[in-house]
Amino acid sequence: MRLLRKKTVDAGSLSASRRSFLAAACGLAAAGTASCRSKGPGVPDDVLAAIPLASLPAGQRTVLSVHDKPVEFLRTEKGIRARSLKCTHLGCELAWVEADRRYRCPCHEGTFDDEGRVVSGPPPGPLRTFSVTVQGELALVRA
Ligand code: FES
Repeated sequence: MRLLRKKTVDAGSLSASRRSFLAAACGLAAAGTASCRSKGPGVPDDVLAAIPLASLPAGQRTVLSVHDKPVEFLRTEKGIRARSLKCTHLGCELAWVEADRRYRCPCHEGTFDDEGRVVSGPPPGPLRTFSVTVQGELALVRA
């Protein structure tokens, strides 16, 4: 499992610098609350990523790199949603645009709604989702 924190932003401001968030990820690891490159003891083998709940602020979209792929996490009162931000057309990284309530692909103008369904453009299918369960203070991400 590889985990790098990329960014945590308010829903309306997804243009924040990724580099600063990468630095924040390793800062978390140094503080002992997360690991950039290992799952840690007691985490089942089928888990792709073990993320400290503290790094998933409620109501905010948090983008992490899971196995070198961008995954958006959204923690609400209903639970934690995890969705791939790789476009299903040719794999470009999507960005959430709060004003439009859409994920937009910079490559060929594909768009997806907040449920990950294709709205327009060439993407052939919806965005991939991941299962997330909570174990103690960790969010466990599975395929
Ligand atoms: S890669 Fe996203 S629309 Fe082509």
